[in-house]
Amino acid sequence: MSKRQEILDKVTVIDHPVVARDLSILRDNTTGTAEFRAALGRIATILAYFALKDLPLRETIIETPITKTEGCEIDTEIIIVPILRAGLSLVDAIINFILDAKVGHLGMYRDEETHEPVDYYSNLPDGVKDGLVLVVDPMLATGGSADDAIGFMKNQGANNIRFISLIAAPEGLERISEKYPDVSIITAAVDEKLNSDAFIVPGLGDAGDRYFGTT
Ligand code: PRP
Repeated sequence: MSKRQEILDKVTVIDHPVVARDLSILRDNTTGTAEFRAALGRIATILAYFALKDLPLRETIIETPITKTEGCEIDTEIIIVPILRAGLSLVDAIINFILDAKVGHLGMYRDEETHEPVDYYSNLPDGVKDGLVLVVDPMLATGGSADDAIGFMKNQGANNIRFISLIAAPEGLERISEKYPDVSIITAAVDEKLNSDAFIVPGLGDAGDRYFGTT
């Protein structure tokens, strides 16, 4: 088995007809802002469901209208860390499941010439050391932004990190998996490659611009 295949085998790639249909809507050049947001929101919900599926639970005792019984609560704090801007598009879907999740923000954009991330903002809540940190960004292209964001969170003491993306290039997956083997990756699609401008092919263009209507 090739090294790339070994890496891909460790990535959670969502296989679901609704996701496949919605990815087609997102990829389609003629899709407008409203439809793009709606399709991305549906996929984000499914990504969140898979990203949260093995959360630790603690037992509680609850009283139903009939009797006492065992219940449970989620036994970890959840910190969502969107990479601005486009990462914001994945936040609400997670909050819909975890209403008290904290949200930290990391601002970075990719320089159009060098393709390297440029940091411009950070604001993190307490609790990243002990909680589950979900770094979210719809695009994993070269992996430079994710690498920077995950490295930053590790420097802040985070030791339980997952990375959630919508669409990933094999190059970015390889970079993150090799550098951070402890970080699990959940994505809705693994595309073919990067082009010479480091855009994902076939991809969907620039997720941030399409989601925020800035094209
Ligand atoms: C895009 C995207 C990722 C990054 C991916 O951000 O949202 O953050 O590029 O590329 P990489 O894996 O090669 O680093 P962009 O610079 O377009 O900023 P935006 O989120 O503000 O649109």
